Amino acid sequence: MKKRDVTRIWDLRKEEILFLIERALQIKKSRRWEKSLEGKILALIFEKPSTRTRISFEAAMIKLGGSNIFLSTKDLQLARGEPIKDTAKVLSRYVDAVVLRTYAQETIEEFAKYSTIPVINGLSNKFHPCQVLSDIMTVIEKGKDLYKDKIVWIGDGNNVAQSWVEASALLGFKLILVCPKGYEPDSELLKMAYEEYKAQIEIFNYPKEAIKGSEVINTDVWTSMGFEEENEERKRVFKDFQVNREILSLASPSAIVLHCLPAHRGEEITEEVLEGEQSVVWDQSENKMWLHMALLEFLLHNN
Ligand code: CP
Ligand code: NVA
Repeated sequence: MKKRDVTRIWDLRKEEILFLIERALQIKKSRRWEKSLEGKILALIFEKPSTRTRISFEAAMIKLGGSNIFLSTKDLQLARGEPIKDTAKVLSRYVDAVVLRTYAQETIEEFAKYSTIPVINGLSNKFHPCQVLSDIMTVIEKGKDLYKDKIVWIGDGNNVAQSWVEASALLGFKLILVCPKGYEPDSELLKMAYEEYKAQIEIFNYPKEAIKGSEVINTDVWTSMGFEEENEERKRVFKDFQVNREILSLASPSAIVLHCLPAHRGEEITEEVLEGEQSVVWDQSENKMWLHMALLEFLLHNN
C-alpha cells in the first residue's frame, strides 16, 4: 500500500479525520488498545524545542509497543549540509515513520517526497496539523458541535491558525478568524480554501463583535518560534487581542477556551482565563497523546 504522510491537514480526507478523532476518543475512554506497533520505530527530528508534541508522540509510540529515536537536526549530518533527500532515503531504511518539526514547511514536503515511510508534520512555519486534529477532538469531547456552534480563532494567523483554516475548509464547518490587519493567515491559502473547498471562513480585524456568542475560543502566542525579533512590535499590535475576562464575557457563558500551549500569561491570555473554569487547555494537551496513538496506528497499519 502507498505510504501516507501528514504534512498538512489537506493530506487527509474528511472521513479519515473523523475516524481518527473517534478512535482517539475511544482509546482515551476505554483505556484499552493493542500493542500493535511492537518492533516499529518512530524517528523524531526537531529543529525547534518541543515539550508536548515530542513527549506525546513518544508516549503514544511506547504505549503501542513501539520505540522512538529523537534527534535534534544539529546532531545530524543535515547540519553539515547533507541534503534532505539523502537523509529521507537513508532514514527510510532504518525506521518506520518520522515526525519532523522544522522552520520551513518545504523541508517536510521534500522529506516526504523522498522517503518511503510516513512523514508527520510536528509543526512548521506554515502548519501544525496534529495540533489541530487533537484540538478538534477536544472541541468534540467537550460537547461542542462543529457545525452549529460558533468557533473563533483570536490572535495571530500563524501555523496553528492556518491548520484550523484547512480543517474548517475540509470538514466544512464555519470558522471566525479575529486577527490584526496584516496578521491574517496566508492569502493564497485562504483563496484556495474559498475556491476549492467553498470554505465558510470569516475574517475580522477587531475582536468585540466577532467574539459575541462564540462557544469555542482558540488562541496562541503572539510571537511564534522563528519570529522572536518581531516580539516588541507584535506586543503593540496584538494588545487588544488578549483573551481576558472582558473578551470572555462577550462569548457564550458555556464557551470553552483553547490554547495549544506554551502560553505567555499576560500577553495573549490572562492567568485568570488560562486557569479559569472555561479553560480546557490541560485536557487539550493530554488529547495530543491519544490523537497521536490513533494517528500512528492509522499510518503504520496502512503501510
Ligand atoms: N502545542 C505544542 O506543539 O507544544 P510543544 O511546542 O511543546 O510541542
Ligand atoms: N505558534 C506556535 C505554536 C507552538 C506550539 C509556534 O510556532 O511557536
